[in-house]
Amino acid sequence: MVKMKLFSKKISDWYLLNKRDLPWRNTTDPYKIWLSEIILQQTRVNQGLNYYHKFVEQYPTVAKLANAKEEQILKLWQGLGYYSRARNLHKAAKQVLAEHKGKFPSEYNDLIKLKGVGVYTASAIASFAFNKPYAVVDGNVYRILSRIFGIDVPIDSSEGKKYFQELANQLLNKIDSSLHNQAMMEFGARYCTPSNPDCNNCIFQNDCLALLKNRVSELPVKSKKSKQTIRYFNYLVICQNKNIFIEKRIEKDIWHSLYQFPLIESERLLDANKLIKHIGWKNIFKKNDFKLNKEYTEMKHILTHQIIYTRFWNVKYEGTLTKYLLIKRLEMNNYPLPRLIERFLQV
Ligand code: ADE
Repeated sequence: MVKMKLFSKKISDWYLLNKRDLPWRNTTDPYKIWLSEIILQQTRVNQGLNYYHKFVEQYPTVAKLANAKEEQILKLWQGLGYYSRARNLHKAAKQVLAEHKGKFPSEYNDLIKLKGVGVYTASAIASFAFNKPYAVVDGNVYRILSRIFGIDVPIDSSEGKKYFQELANQLLNKIDSSLHNQAMMEFGARYCTPSNPDCNNCIFQNDCLALLKNRVSELPVKSKKSKQTIRYFNYLVICQNKNIFIEKRIEKDIWHSLYQFPLIESERLLDANKLIKHIGWKNIFKKNDFKLNKEYTEMKHILTHQIIYTRFWNVKYEGTLTKYLLIKRLEMNNYPLPRLIERFLQV
């Protein structure tokens, strides 16, 4: 087993020789580091990079971000998913302005009070921007530690969270915590990956208990199986001359605050005959003054925990619909849209 004292030196030496040159690694500006960490949650570096550049360009300071319209931020976030991250980004920027006079806080206890900032992000900002001795623990770190040290305490249990945080704290090089933490993230992303880790070229191949016991694919352990929900969306594309009806999603659900066509969600796939008998349809069209085209465009949309089978229906309707917004068709792209709607508009 690798000696606790040697661990940080080994992974840091590897990092210094092998690191990728990423923009948030060449700055100690806490604002930019925070931005990068929020973008990179549940997002690959390659995808996140583009968004990082766009955000830094459009909002070079936390004050610019705080003073932006939420809708503009959501529009720039479009396609990244988990839109609560973007809404929290805006709220936290406002907090920095209101509570810290626009100067990004440097204390862990202040950082963790910012909206959308949890233990991981507060530790990341404290160490990357201020070199404070906080160990980051995210999916990368869970994988590395559970495998190298052969730990099968479930990472989604409170016991597991505590256990791994304590181990990470013990391993941390407190003199250069920024280097240590970046090395952990990089190693998890490049070698100790969720599937097909590169054990043959791994610097810990003689130490890793999971590899020695042939348990790499079993670790880390999760107690709960995250299940996938299947949903059926029927979007009504209702054009009137050059205009189209849209609505803003306001329920506590995916895509909060994004825009879409009028939606009828159903328990199963519907054909045209079943659709016009659906209660959702009757709530929109009170009379028989519509014309539904029986042909539809079908799309399957996959999110981390949901699969959405979607049918886009063309409806001819000349009346008013007060529940919805009537906008110019060409202006639809100015609104923040779920990726699913964006995909449809591109066909
Ligand atoms: N993922 C989350 N934070 C990261 C970082 N600082 N570097 C690379 N990947 C990351």
